[in-house]
Amino acid sequence: MFPSHYYVRDIRIEPNLVLAPMEGVTDLTFRRLVRQIGGTGLTVTEFVASEGLRRGAAKMEEMARFDPDERPVAVQIYGRDPAAMAEAAKIVQDSGAGICDINMGCPSKKVCAHSGGSALLKDPDLAKEIVRAVRAAITIPLTVKMRSGFDASNRNCPDVAWMCQEEGVEAITIHWRTRADLYSGTRAVDKIAEAKQRLRIPVVGNGDIVDFESAARMFRDTGVDGVMVGRGAVKNPWVFLQIGQQMRGEAPMVVTADEKRRVLLGYFQSIRDAFRSDHGSLGRMKKIANYFTHGLPHGSALRVAFLHSQSIEEAVRHTERYFERLAVYETGGGWERDETDPVEEIAASA
Ligand SMILES: Cc1cc2nc3c(=O)[nH]c(=O)nc-3n(C[C@H](O)[C@H](O)[C@H](O)COP(=O)(O)O)c2cc1C
Repeated sequence: MFPSHYYVRDIRIEPNLVLAPMEGVTDLTFRRLVRQIGGTGLTVTEFVASEGLRRGAAKMEEMARFDPDERPVAVQIYGRDPAAMAEAAKIVQDSGAGICDINMGCPSKKVCAHSGGSALLKDPDLAKEIVRAVRAAITIPLTVKMRSGFDASNRNCPDVAWMCQEEGVEAITIHWRTRADLYSGTRAVDKIAEAKQRLRIPVVGNGDIVDFESAARMFRDTGVDGVMVGRGAVKNPWVFLQIGQQMRGEAPMVVTADEKRRVLLGYFQSIRDAFRSDHGSLGRMKKIANYFTHGLPHGSALRVAFLHSQSIEEAVRHTERYFERLAVYETGGGWERDETDPVEEIAASA
């Protein structure tokens, strides 16, 4: 009933569940975590500024890094200068990446101000020039990720996607939101369905997929070849396995509080190993903990505790304590409060 795979040229993406690129989240460490858990058929790096990559900026090289066994992987680049994009794409190809992906979706002011990201949807001529230059520079498969349009009156993704296909792009991912929607807006996947109908190349649907039901809805409403999950995978890194299981008609795995604790603390350790400063590590841990605890019982207790944590040790202690209590709660023991802890009192009144 649901497709199980698609091809980007000769690269088989199976399962057809893709981890979205997310700047400041899906770095090498997070992608390792998701790949260890399993269930995703393709990972994508955070977006990498083409100008920086071309200059050899260490930060950009770091963002474009992937593990030798991370296969298939797409490295995503953004920018407005066709020559810089072409050079960056060549660097991506030379690094051994399987796929180069162009970002036409980023809504950030910083990126749009330079006509990159979703600003390209408003400037299809420049978008075409970029795709053409990149296509001519590399022989590996090329894909594009875009939003449905720039704003409600310009939802032109089917046209831009068609142009990309005619210029040699080999798969398209579409996030149903427009640039103007940022991260809100009312779900409208009609343009994804229209693009899928018109295009010969695979189309991947994206936006608010957090479980099997939302994935199934995207497949059903649009006929897409695959789905991409972003924030839902930070909240629940098991989401790909669970969606895949339910797509095959199996029961989804249940993840216990103990397993969540083990994975989150293990992940914190990889963040500490990867970051140079404690400040940087703590910042990233806070960000991940924020997503991870959304929807968990009393998750705000841990989010508040993180906000008040001055050191990594303190944050780790709060995390351990939270999951100990979650384990008790999950077995019907209620939520144990610790009134001697001032942070808990703040959380309880939050
Ligand atoms: C923190 C964050 C960073 C993001 N960074 C990128 C990026 O680098 N490149 C990109 O194409 N999209 C980026 N996105 C957009 C996501 O890839 C995705 O399209 C969007 O979050 C919608 O999917 P979701 O509802 O499953 O999260 C980012 C989103 C978030 C929340």
